[in-house]
Amino acid sequence: MCGIVGYAGGRSALDVVLAGLKRLEYRGYDSAGVAVLADGGLAAAKKAGKLANLDKELAERPLPAGSTGIGHTRWATHGAPTDANAHPHLDNAGRVAVVHNGIIENFAALRAELSGRGHRLASETDTEVVGHLLAESFSSCGDLAEAMRQVCRRLEGAFTLVAVHADAPDVVVGARRNSPLVVGVGEDEAFLASDVAAFIAYTREAIELGQDQVVELRRDGVTVTDFDGAPGEVREYHIDWDASAAEKGGYDYFMLKEIAEQPKAVADTLLGRVDASGVLSLDEVRIDDTVLREATKVVIVACGTAFHAGMIAKYAIEHWTRIPCEVELASEFRYRDPILDPRTLVVAISQSGETMDTLMAVRHAREQGAKVLAVCNTNGSTIPRESDAVLYTHAGPEVAVASTKAFLTQLVACYLLALYLGQVRGTQWGDEIRAVVRELAGVGSQVEQVLGTMEPVRELARSLADKDTVLFLGRHVGYPVALEGALKLKELAYMHAEGFAAGELKHGPIALIEEGVPVVVVVPSPRGRSVLHGKIVSNIQEIRARGARTIVIAEEGDEAVVPYADHIVRIPRTPTLLQPLVSSVPLQVFACELATARGNEVDQPRNLAKSVTVE
Ligand code: F6R
Repeated sequence: MCGIVGYAGGRSALDVVLAGLKRLEYRGYDSAGVAVLADGGLAAAKKAGKLANLDKELAERPLPAGSTGIGHTRWATHGAPTDANAHPHLDNAGRVAVVHNGIIENFAALRAELSGRGHRLASETDTEVVGHLLAESFSSCGDLAEAMRQVCRRLEGAFTLVAVHADAPDVVVGARRNSPLVVGVGEDEAFLASDVAAFIAYTREAIELGQDQVVELRRDGVTVTDFDGAPGEVREYHIDWDASAAEKGGYDYFMLKEIAEQPKAVADTLLGRVDASGVLSLDEVRIDDTVLREATKVVIVACGTAFHAGMIAKYAIEHWTRIPCEVELASEFRYRDPILDPRTLVVAISQSGETMDTLMAVRHAREQGAKVLAVCNTNGSTIPRESDAVLYTHAGPEVAVASTKAFLTQLVACYLLALYLGQVRGTQWGDEIRAVVRELAGVGSQVEQVLGTMEPVRELARSLADKDTVLFLGRHVGYPVALEGALKLKELAYMHAEGFAAGELKHGPIALIEEGVPVVVVVPSPRGRSVLHGKIVSNIQEIRARGARTIVIAEEGDEAVVPYADHIVRIPRTPTLLQPLVSSVPLQVFACELATARGNEVDQPRNLAKSVTVE
């Protein structure tokens, strides 16, 4: 949510900052802006809309060349997405420029105070007050980092701030509280960004900033302090993927590339975690096995797609470990006073590791004494840092706003966790666990197989481009898959899409069925849990009798569904609990193609941002 870039070095700051913003545009695309220090002054440009609008503005009115600069791509919180509300925000003298991610909660009081001292504030944003406060502090202390510390001590809320001052040439200053900011360290140059993707083309050496820290960036070094000026502790790390991972690589959209990368993402997430004899070892999970053995309850917290992964994990955890497992939307969790204690294991699932709702749930759980394990895709992000343990998914960078490969790897990580809990607790399902571990190893190639048969799904999606509604049904683990299929369609195709537990249909939603309404049905395997299979076949008949156009996702060899399916999408045979790894893939392809057919922006759907750092 909002992308920030800062640069100090020998290159053209404008080029570096614009290239970085391009890679961060997935974080917000309501407006974009840049500021560079040049010729003893400060020059800035900003424009509502996508980065392309700013590029056009810069082509018409170029900025002078300079080698220190900052930039921002916005997801609007306070104030409409207009030119005036775009970042950077300057003080009245035009000497300071600041960009911001997050929300400054006490901005109204600060604004009134500044107006009282004669400052003229031109925007509706909470950010602008920071530029003015920085200008005041700098004029009394003459040091931009110290001015930033003074200002941060006065701010309430969550923020990442990055600023430059015309009287502090070659310096960029940043601050972070509850919002992401990483430092990139190159040879004679340094970078600041919300995400390493912004500078990965220049350096793979990064520094993770801690909470409530201020960083001063110069081409020859980086100084980190806390808000009081004491030296700050940081963690240096090497980024283990390169720039090509954050490129489209010949695909029209990142989403298509990320869908295609799923077999590898799944395999990478399994790598090194299962030995040849099928024994799981999750070494990086720093929680002692005793804690896992003695846990009396698992509570999963997550949002959106990650929440759907959590819903699926519940089936696996309860079945393989017999520990009761609750799944809760992170945004609801702490407000209902949940019952937690040191024997509760809270699992926080988050691709970005920055989602504010999930972070707040993590904090609440830890305050209540629960142990928190994060399932996360982003090294060094806030949620794993604030958790007791982390199980990283190895999906690589996910740029498209709609989550695909991160979702599949969240599922893999949750299965590993469930199986590991089963292993350390020694449940009655030992044989099944060993068999499933063996099956997991082959799941990457099954995803590959599904991807190879998607042309009819794409064709079907195109044929439905003028529909208003698509419904999704599932049972057991197919139910969260149905919810996920509907979410993908809503966010990408902007269509009314809803997922239901197929058994609930007769309790109300069946009234929605009328002639021609497309209904996607995720069918459980006819093997094993055949009772479920029989019931969903009846549900398909019920909706078809009422005119629904049935799109049936069914296992190879499942002939019972054939008479009632207008379209069949075949998926490979998998153990029941693992089926979401293959059944959700056609739904991703379906949503992507339908969005394209409707002329929508696949990678950057309207009103959304990749990383949601406000509550
Ligand atoms: C939908 C999607 C979102 C995210 C949600 C949580 O395609 O991507 O629903 O799953 O915003 O994000 P993370 O996983 O970063 O916490």
